[in-house]
Amino acid sequence: MPRDLSPADPGDLLDWYDRHARTLPWRVSPAERAAGARPDPYRVWLSEIMLQQTTVAAVKSYFDRFTSLWPDVRALAAAPDAQVMGEWAGLGYYARARNLLKCARVVAEEHGGTFPSDRAALLALPGVGPYTASAVAAIAFDRPEVVVDGNVERVMARLHDIHTPLPAAKPELTARAAALTPEARPGDYAQAVMDLGATICTPRSPACGICPWREPCVARAAGTAAELPKKAPKKPKPVRLGIAYLARREDGAWLLERRPDRGLLGGMLGWPGSDWAETAPAEAPPLEADWQDIPSEARHTFTHFHLRLALRYAEVPLDAAPARGAFLAPAEFRPSDLPTLMRKAFDLVRA
Ligand code: ADE
Repeated sequence: MPRDLSPADPGDLLDWYDRHARTLPWRVSPAERAAGARPDPYRVWLSEIMLQQTTVAAVKSYFDRFTSLWPDVRALAAAPDAQVMGEWAGLGYYARARNLLKCARVVAEEHGGTFPSDRAALLALPGVGPYTASAVAAIAFDRPEVVVDGNVERVMARLHDIHTPLPAAKPELTARAAALTPEARPGDYAQAVMDLGATICTPRSPACGICPWREPCVARAAGTAAELPKKAPKKPKPVRLGIAYLARREDGAWLLERRPDRGLLGGMLGWPGSDWAETAPAEAPPLEADWQDIPSEARHTFTHFHLRLALRYAEVPLDAAPARGAFLAPAEFRPSDLPTLMRKAFDLVRA
Protein backbone atom coordinates (compact mmCIF):
# COMPACT_ATOMS: atom_id res chain seq x y z
CA MET A 1 0.00 0.00 0.00
CA PRO A 2 1.29 3.50 -0.77
CA ARG A 3 1.82 5.65 2.28
CA ASP A 4 -0.62 8.50 2.94
CA LEU A 5 0.12 11.38 0.62
CA SER A 6 -0.64 15.04 1.21
CA PRO A 7 -3.49 16.27 -1.02
CA ALA A 8 -2.68 18.05 -4.30
CA ASP A 9 -2.41 21.83 -4.02
CA PRO A 10 -3.82 23.88 -6.93
CA GLY A 11 -1.29 26.58 -6.00
CA ASP A 12 1.60 24.26 -6.90
CA LEU A 13 0.08 23.71 -10.34
CA LEU A 14 -0.46 27.47 -10.82
CA ASP A 15 3.20 28.14 -9.92
CA TRP A 16 4.23 25.60 -12.54
CA TYR A 17 1.85 27.19 -15.09
CA ASP A 18 3.38 30.62 -14.44
CA ARG A 19 6.69 29.22 -15.64
CA HIS A 20 5.61 26.68 -18.27
CA ALA A 21 2.27 27.76 -19.79
CA ARG A 22 2.11 26.94 -23.50
CA THR A 23 1.91 29.94 -25.79
CA LEU A 24 -1.33 29.51 -27.75
CA PRO A 25 -2.92 32.03 -30.11
CA TRP A 26 -6.16 32.32 -28.13
CA ARG A 27 -4.47 32.50 -24.77
CA VAL A 28 -3.49 35.39 -22.47
CA SER A 29 -0.28 34.31 -20.73
CA PRO A 30 -0.10 34.40 -16.92
CA ALA A 31 2.30 37.40 -17.13
CA GLU A 32 -0.03 39.30 -19.47
CA ARG A 33 -2.97 38.54 -17.20
CA ALA A 34 -1.04 39.74 -14.15
CA ALA A 35 -0.42 42.99 -16.09
CA GLY A 36 -4.18 43.43 -16.55
CA ALA A 37 -4.80 41.82 -19.96
CA ARG A 38 -7.98 39.78 -20.36
CA PRO A 39 -8.73 37.11 -22.96
CA ASP A 40 -11.11 37.87 -25.82
CA PRO A 41 -14.22 35.69 -25.22
CA TYR A 42 -14.74 35.37 -28.98
CA ARG A 43 -11.29 33.83 -29.41
CA VAL A 44 -11.73 31.58 -26.36
CA TRP A 45 -15.11 30.34 -27.61
CA LEU A 46 -13.80 29.79 -31.17
CA SER A 47 -10.79 27.85 -29.87
CA GLU A 48 -12.90 25.65 -27.60
CA ILE A 49 -15.26 24.72 -30.45
CA MET A 50 -12.32 23.92 -32.73
CA LEU A 51 -10.52 21.90 -30.02
CA GLN A 52 -13.42 19.49 -29.49
CA GLN A 53 -12.17 16.05 -30.68
CA THR A 54 -9.27 17.87 -32.36
CA THR A 55 -5.63 18.43 -31.38
CA VAL A 56 -4.03 21.81 -30.68
CA ALA A 57 -1.60 21.15 -33.56
CA ALA A 58 -4.44 20.62 -36.04
CA VAL A 59 -6.40 23.63 -34.79
CA LYS A 60 -3.72 26.34 -34.87
CA SER A 61 -3.73 27.15 -38.61
CA TYR A 62 -7.54 27.07 -38.75
CA PHE A 63 -7.75 29.38 -35.77
CA ASP A 64 -5.32 31.85 -37.37
CA ARG A 65 -7.21 31.78 -40.66
CA PHE A 66 -10.65 32.24 -39.03
CA THR A 67 -9.52 35.12 -36.83
CA SER A 68 -7.82 36.94 -39.70
CA LEU A 69 -10.90 36.54 -41.93
CA TRP A 70 -13.33 37.29 -39.07
CA PRO A 71 -11.66 39.19 -36.22
CA ASP A 72 -14.78 39.41 -34.06
CA VAL A 73 -18.13 37.70 -33.59
CA ARG A 74 -20.07 40.26 -35.67
CA ALA A 75 -17.77 39.70 -38.63
CA LEU A 76 -18.25 35.93 -38.34
CA ALA A 77 -22.03 36.37 -37.97
CA ALA A 78 -22.09 38.28 -41.27
CA ALA A 79 -20.06 35.67 -43.18
CA PRO A 80 -21.72 33.59 -45.94
CA ASP A 81 -22.47 30.01 -44.82
CA ALA A 82 -20.61 28.45 -47.75
CA GLN A 83 -17.43 30.41 -47.00
CA VAL A 84 -17.43 29.36 -43.33
CA MET A 85 -18.06 25.70 -44.23
CA GLY A 86 -15.26 25.89 -46.82
CA GLU A 87 -12.81 27.29 -44.29
CA TRP A 88 -13.77 24.56 -41.79
CA ALA A 89 -13.13 21.82 -44.41
CA GLY A 90 -10.60 19.28 -43.12
CA LEU A 91 -11.28 19.88 -39.38
CA GLY A 92 -14.11 17.33 -39.27
CA TYR A 93 -17.28 17.12 -37.14
CA TYR A 94 -18.99 19.62 -39.40
CA ALA A 95 -22.00 20.15 -37.11
CA ARG A 96 -19.54 22.26 -35.13
CA ALA A 97 -19.19 24.69 -38.03
CA ARG A 98 -22.93 24.94 -38.63
CA ASN A 99 -23.53 25.60 -34.93
CA LEU A 100 -20.57 28.01 -34.82
CA LEU A 101 -22.29 30.23 -37.34
CA LYS A 102 -25.67 29.90 -35.61
CA CYS A 103 -24.05 30.83 -32.30
CA ALA A 104 -22.22 33.82 -33.79
CA ARG A 105 -25.53 35.10 -35.19
CA VAL A 106 -27.34 34.67 -31.86
CA VAL A 107 -24.55 36.52 -30.02
CA ALA A 108 -24.55 39.30 -32.64
CA GLU A 109 -28.33 39.66 -32.80
CA GLU A 110 -29.53 38.82 -29.29
CA HIS A 111 -26.54 39.74 -27.10
CA GLY A 112 -25.37 42.90 -28.87
CA GLY A 113 -22.19 41.19 -30.07
CA THR A 114 -20.95 40.42 -26.54
CA PHE A 115 -20.64 36.87 -25.20
CA PRO A 116 -22.53 36.28 -21.94
CA SER A 117 -20.23 35.54 -19.02
CA ASP A 118 -22.18 33.06 -16.94
CA ARG A 119 -22.33 29.38 -17.54
CA ALA A 120 -26.13 29.10 -17.79
CA ALA A 121 -26.39 31.82 -20.46
CA LEU A 122 -23.48 30.28 -22.39
CA LEU A 123 -25.17 26.88 -22.22
CA ALA A 124 -28.22 28.32 -24.00
CA LEU A 125 -26.15 29.17 -27.11
CA PRO A 126 -26.17 26.86 -30.15
CA GLY A 127 -23.33 24.31 -30.10
CA VAL A 128 -22.33 25.17 -26.53
CA GLY A 129 -22.62 22.09 -24.30
CA PRO A 130 -21.67 21.61 -20.64
CA TYR A 131 -17.93 21.31 -21.33
CA THR A 132 -17.72 24.37 -23.58
CA ALA A 133 -19.91 26.51 -21.29
CA SER A 134 -17.63 25.73 -18.34
CA ALA A 135 -14.43 26.22 -20.35
CA VAL A 136 -15.51 29.62 -21.74
CA ALA A 137 -16.85 30.82 -18.36
CA ALA A 138 -13.59 29.81 -16.67
CA ILE A 139 -11.02 30.80 -19.32
CA ALA A 140 -12.65 33.95 -20.73
CA PHE A 141 -14.36 35.24 -17.56
CA ASP A 142 -12.35 33.66 -14.74
CA ARG A 143 -15.40 31.98 -13.24
CA PRO A 144 -14.70 29.05 -10.88
CA GLU A 145 -16.31 26.44 -13.17
CA VAL A 146 -15.19 22.83 -13.28
CA VAL A 147 -13.63 22.10 -16.66
CA VAL A 148 -13.22 18.42 -17.51
CA ASP A 149 -11.78 17.31 -20.83
CA GLY A 150 -9.79 14.18 -21.67
CA ASN A 151 -6.58 15.68 -20.26
CA VAL A 152 -8.26 16.53 -16.98
CA GLU A 153 -9.77 13.02 -16.70
CA ARG A 154 -6.34 11.47 -17.15
CA VAL A 155 -4.74 13.77 -14.56
CA MET A 156 -7.52 13.09 -12.01
CA ALA A 157 -7.45 9.32 -12.59
CA ARG A 158 -3.72 9.29 -11.86
CA LEU A 159 -3.68 11.78 -9.01
CA HIS A 160 -6.26 9.61 -7.18
CA ASP A 161 -5.28 6.21 -8.67
CA ILE A 162 -8.80 5.56 -9.96
CA HIS A 163 -9.02 2.22 -11.81
CA THR A 164 -12.70 2.32 -12.78
CA PRO A 165 -12.73 2.34 -16.59
CA LEU A 166 -14.02 5.26 -18.64
CA PRO A 167 -16.76 6.21 -19.30
CA ALA A 168 -18.13 4.77 -16.01
CA ALA A 169 -15.46 6.73 -14.09
CA LYS A 170 -16.63 10.12 -15.40
CA PRO A 171 -18.78 11.15 -12.39
CA GLU A 172 -16.01 10.29 -9.94
CA LEU A 173 -13.34 12.07 -12.03
CA THR A 174 -15.60 15.13 -12.33
CA ALA A 175 -16.17 15.17 -8.55
CA ARG A 176 -12.39 14.98 -7.99
CA ALA A 177 -11.85 17.83 -10.46
CA ALA A 178 -14.55 19.89 -8.72
CA ALA A 179 -12.96 19.38 -5.31
CA LEU A 180 -9.65 20.76 -6.60
CA THR A 181 -10.92 23.77 -8.61
CA PRO A 182 -9.76 26.90 -6.75
CA GLU A 183 -11.56 30.22 -6.23
CA ALA A 184 -8.32 32.02 -7.11
CA ARG A 185 -7.38 32.17 -10.82
CA PRO A 186 -9.85 29.47 -11.97
CA GLY A 187 -9.23 30.35 -15.65
CA ASP A 188 -5.49 29.86 -15.39
CA TYR A 189 -6.07 26.76 -13.28
CA ALA A 190 -8.31 25.17 -15.98
CA GLN A 191 -5.67 25.81 -18.61
CA ALA A 192 -2.90 24.63 -16.29
CA VAL A 193 -4.52 21.18 -15.85
CA MET A 194 -4.91 20.92 -19.63
CA ASP A 195 -1.27 21.87 -20.17
CA LEU A 196 -0.13 19.39 -17.53
CA GLY A 197 -2.09 16.66 -19.33
CA ALA A 198 -0.73 17.69 -22.72
CA THR A 199 2.93 18.08 -21.80
CA ILE A 200 3.78 16.04 -18.66
CA CYS A 201 0.88 13.78 -17.66
CA THR A 202 0.74 12.43 -21.22
CA PRO A 203 -1.12 9.24 -22.20
CA ARG A 204 1.83 6.90 -22.89
CA SER A 205 4.93 7.78 -20.89
CA PRO A 206 4.16 10.44 -18.32
CA ALA A 207 7.14 12.53 -17.19
CA CYS A 208 6.37 12.03 -13.49
CA GLY A 209 9.86 13.11 -12.41
CA ILE A 210 9.23 16.74 -13.42
CA CYS A 211 5.54 16.92 -12.49
CA PRO A 212 4.49 19.68 -10.07
CA TRP A 213 2.03 17.19 -8.56
CA ARG A 214 4.48 14.26 -8.26
CA GLU A 215 4.36 14.33 -4.42
CA PRO A 216 0.57 14.01 -4.01
CA CYS A 217 0.08 11.66 -7.01
CA VAL A 218 -1.24 8.30 -5.78
CA ALA A 219 -0.70 6.52 -9.12
CA ARG A 220 2.93 7.65 -9.22
CA ALA A 221 3.48 6.23 -5.75
CA ALA A 222 1.74 2.99 -6.78
CA GLY A 223 3.55 2.76 -10.13
CA THR A 224 0.28 2.70 -12.08
CA ALA A 225 0.31 6.15 -13.75
CA ALA A 226 1.07 4.92 -17.28
CA GLU A 227 -1.83 2.44 -17.26
CA LEU A 228 -4.45 5.00 -16.22
CA PRO A 229 -7.12 5.92 -17.06
CA LYS A 230 -8.52 2.47 -17.85
CA LYS A 231 -10.94 2.44 -20.75
CA ALA A 232 -13.82 0.10 -21.51
CA PRO A 233 -13.03 -1.83 -24.70
CA LYS A 234 -14.29 -0.07 -27.83
CA LYS A 235 -16.81 -1.76 -30.10
CA PRO A 236 -15.20 -2.53 -33.46
CA LYS A 237 -16.42 -0.19 -36.19
CA PRO A 238 -18.44 -1.71 -39.05
CA VAL A 239 -17.49 -1.07 -42.68
CA ARG A 240 -19.90 0.81 -44.93
CA LEU A 241 -19.73 0.95 -48.71
CA GLY A 242 -20.68 3.71 -51.11
CA ILE A 243 -20.14 5.00 -54.66
CA ALA A 244 -19.22 8.57 -55.62
CA TYR A 245 -19.48 10.04 -59.12
CA LEU A 246 -16.99 12.64 -60.25
CA ALA A 247 -18.09 14.30 -63.48
CA ARG A 248 -15.84 16.80 -65.24
CA ARG A 249 -17.41 18.96 -67.90
CA GLU A 250 -15.46 19.89 -71.07
CA ASP A 251 -14.87 23.41 -69.73
CA GLY A 252 -13.22 22.06 -66.57
CA ALA A 253 -16.26 22.47 -64.28
CA TRP A 254 -16.92 19.69 -61.72
CA LEU A 255 -20.33 18.38 -60.68
CA LEU A 256 -20.75 18.92 -56.93
CA GLU A 257 -23.62 19.12 -54.50
CA ARG A 258 -24.13 20.67 -51.11
CA ARG A 259 -24.94 17.92 -48.60
CA PRO A 260 -28.09 18.31 -46.49
CA ASP A 261 -27.50 20.05 -43.13
CA ARG A 262 -28.55 16.99 -41.17
CA GLY A 263 -26.39 13.92 -41.43
CA LEU A 264 -22.76 13.14 -42.11
CA LEU A 265 -20.66 15.93 -43.61
CA GLY A 266 -23.82 18.04 -43.31
CA GLY A 267 -23.61 21.40 -45.06
CA MET A 268 -20.37 20.48 -46.86
CA LEU A 269 -19.68 20.22 -50.58
CA GLY A 270 -19.41 16.68 -51.92
CA TRP A 271 -19.58 14.41 -54.95
CA PRO A 272 -23.03 13.05 -55.76
CA GLY A 273 -23.36 9.36 -55.00
CA SER A 274 -25.15 6.42 -53.45
CA ASP A 275 -26.18 6.04 -49.84
CA TRP A 276 -23.56 4.47 -47.57
CA ALA A 277 -24.59 1.08 -46.20
CA GLU A 278 -23.12 -2.19 -44.96
CA THR A 279 -24.30 -3.98 -48.11
CA ALA A 280 -23.06 -3.18 -51.61
CA PRO A 281 -24.92 -0.11 -52.90
CA ALA A 282 -26.79 0.08 -56.21
CA GLU A 283 -25.38 2.39 -58.88
CA ALA A 284 -26.83 5.92 -58.52
CA PRO A 285 -25.22 8.11 -61.21
CA PRO A 286 -26.32 11.77 -61.22
CA LEU A 287 -26.40 11.79 -65.03
CA GLU A 288 -26.00 9.40 -67.93
CA ALA A 289 -22.40 9.20 -69.02
CA ASP A 290 -19.64 6.78 -69.89
CA TRP A 291 -18.60 6.17 -66.26
CA GLN A 292 -15.13 4.70 -65.79
CA ASP A 293 -14.26 2.74 -62.64
CA ILE A 294 -11.31 4.21 -60.75
CA PRO A 295 -9.14 1.35 -59.42
CA SER A 296 -8.61 2.84 -55.92
CA GLU A 297 -11.34 3.58 -53.41
CA ALA A 298 -11.44 6.55 -51.03
CA ARG A 299 -11.27 5.29 -47.45
CA HIS A 300 -12.18 7.31 -44.42
CA THR A 301 -13.03 6.57 -40.80
CA PHE A 302 -15.97 8.31 -39.17
CA THR A 303 -16.93 8.16 -35.49
CA HIS A 304 -19.08 5.04 -35.90
CA PHE A 305 -17.84 3.28 -39.07
CA HIS A 306 -15.14 2.90 -41.70
CA LEU A 307 -16.22 4.00 -45.16
CA ARG A 308 -14.97 2.57 -48.47
CA LEU A 309 -16.09 4.76 -51.32
CA ALA A 310 -15.86 3.34 -54.85
CA LEU A 311 -15.16 6.04 -57.44
CA ARG A 312 -16.54 6.59 -60.93
CA TYR A 313 -15.28 9.23 -63.33
CA ALA A 314 -16.74 10.67 -66.52
CA GLU A 315 -15.98 13.49 -68.91
CA VAL A 316 -19.24 15.08 -70.01
CA PRO A 317 -20.30 17.64 -72.67
CA LEU A 318 -21.22 21.28 -72.09
CA ASP A 319 -24.94 20.53 -72.38
CA ALA A 320 -24.90 17.79 -69.73
CA ALA A 321 -28.01 18.08 -67.51
CA PRO A 322 -27.48 16.41 -64.12
CA ALA A 323 -30.42 15.19 -62.02
CA ARG A 324 -28.66 16.48 -58.90
CA GLY A 325 -25.89 18.90 -57.98
CA ALA A 326 -24.48 21.72 -60.07
CA PHE A 327 -21.36 22.22 -62.16
CA LEU A 328 -18.86 24.55 -60.49
CA ALA A 329 -16.44 26.35 -62.82
CA PRO A 330 -12.75 26.33 -61.86
CA ALA A 331 -13.07 29.91 -60.52
CA GLU A 332 -15.92 28.84 -58.19
CA PHE A 333 -14.39 25.62 -56.89
CA ARG A 334 -11.50 25.39 -54.44
CA PRO A 335 -10.55 21.77 -53.68
CA SER A 336 -9.63 22.96 -50.17
CA ASP A 337 -13.37 23.58 -49.57
CA LEU A 338 -13.96 19.80 -49.64
CA PRO A 339 -14.13 17.72 -46.46
CA THR A 340 -11.27 15.21 -46.21
CA LEU A 341 -13.16 12.19 -47.65
CA MET A 342 -14.31 14.15 -50.72
CA ARG A 343 -10.83 15.61 -51.15
CA LYS A 344 -9.32 12.09 -51.09
CA ALA A 345 -11.77 11.07 -53.82
CA PHE A 346 -10.81 14.09 -55.93
CA ASP A 347 -7.08 13.44 -55.51
CA LEU A 348 -7.50 9.76 -56.47
CA VAL A 349 -9.48 10.62 -59.61
CA ARG A 350 -6.93 13.21 -60.71
CA ALA A 351 -3.93 10.95 -60.00
N1 ADE B 1 -7.97 21.72 -25.14
C1 ADE B 1 -9.22 22.18 -25.02
N2 ADE B 1 -9.22 23.46 -24.63
C2 ADE B 1 -7.93 23.84 -24.51
C3 ADE B 1 -7.28 25.03 -24.15
N3 ADE B 1 -8.00 26.10 -23.84
N4 ADE B 1 -5.94 25.06 -24.11
C4 ADE B 1 -5.27 23.95 -24.43
N5 ADE B 1 -5.80 22.80 -24.79
C5 ADE B 1 -7.13 22.73 -24.84
